[in-house]
Amino acid sequence: MQYEILTLEINNGIAILTINREKALNALNRQTFSELEHFFGEAGHDIPDLKGVIITGAGEKAFVAGADITEFAGLSPKEGMALSKRGQDILYLIERFHKPVVAAIKGFALGGGCELAMACHLRIAGEKARFGQPEVNLGLTPGYGGTQRLVQYIGKTKALELLLTADMIGAEEAYRLGLVNAVVAPGEEMAKATELIEKIAAKAPYAVAKVIECVNAFYEEGDGFWKEVDAFGECCATEDFKEGAAAFVEKRKANFTGK
Ligand code: CAA
Repeated sequence: MQYEILTLEINNGIAILTINREKALNALNRQTFSELEHFFGEAGHDIPDLKGVIITGAGEKAFVAGADITEFAGLSPKEGMALSKRGQDILYLIERFHKPVVAAIKGFALGGGCELAMACHLRIAGEKARFGQPEVNLGLTPGYGGTQRLVQYIGKTKALELLLTADMIGAEEAYRLGLVNAVVAPGEEMAKATELIEKIAAKAPYAVAKVIECVNAFYEEGDGFWKEVDAFGECCATEDFKEGAAAFVEKRKANFTGK
C-alpha cells in the first residue's frame, strides 16, 4: 500500500511513522486510519530486525488534534458506531503490536490524538505537549477508547474530570498523573523515544512480546494471570531464556537472538 498521509522511515531498526497532515493538526481521517491499519496489521510485521516503532506528528504544533471532525458531519448512529468501532479496532492493533510502540508527542494530543497516544505502549511528551479529551464540546463521547484507557492510566477521579470538563493538561501534569513516561525539552522527544526502544531491544524479544500480551490481557480479558503462566512456560522453551540465565551465572551480558 502506498501511504499518502504517513511517512515511514526506518532508522537503525526503528520504524518512525509520522502523521503528515500538519495543516489539519494531523487530525486522524479515514485514510490515516487505513494506513495505520496496514502498517500495524501487515507491513510492520514484515520488517526484518525491527526494534520498535515511534509514532509522531508532523510539525511542532500537534501530535494529533483528534479525529478529523470534518468527517463527522451527518453521521447516522449506525455510521457513528462503525467509525468508532473501526478506530478502536485499529488502535488495538497498535496496543497488541509485538514490538514496543512509543508515541513522541509535541503539542496537542487531543481526542483521538490522546487516544492514539494511549494505545501506544509508552509515551514521551515534549514540555509543550497538551493532552485532553474535548469530545463533550462537540456533543460526543470519545470514540477510540478514551473513556477506557484514560481511566486505566490516571484513575477514575481525574479521568472523569478531564472527560467531563474537556480541560487540557500540560506535559508535567500528564507525567504526574501517570499518562506519560517522561517529559523532555522540546526537540528531544524523538531522541528519548529512540533511547527507550534501544534499551528494550537489548532484552529478549520473545519475552518482550509476551510481556505486552500479558499486560494487555489484564485490560482486555479482566485477568491476565493465566496468560502469564502460559507466557512464563513458553519463555522457558526459548534459547534466549537459556542464554539469559547462563549470562547471569557467568556474569556477562546476554546475547539474545530472538529464538
Ligand atoms: N479535525 C479536523 N480539523 C482540525 C482538527 C480536527 N480534530 N483540529 C484542528 N483542525 C484544523 C482546524 O480546523 C484548522 O483548519 P483551517 O486552518 O483549515 O481552519 C487547523 O487545523 C488549525 O487549527 P486551529 O486554527 O483551530 O488552531 P488553534 O491553534 O486556534 O487551535 C486547537 C488548536 C485547540 C487544537 C483547535 O484546533 C481544536 O480545538 N481542535 C479540535 C480538537 C478536538 O475537538 N479534538 C477532538 C476531535 S473529536 C474526536 O477525536 C472523537 C473521537 O474520540 C473519535
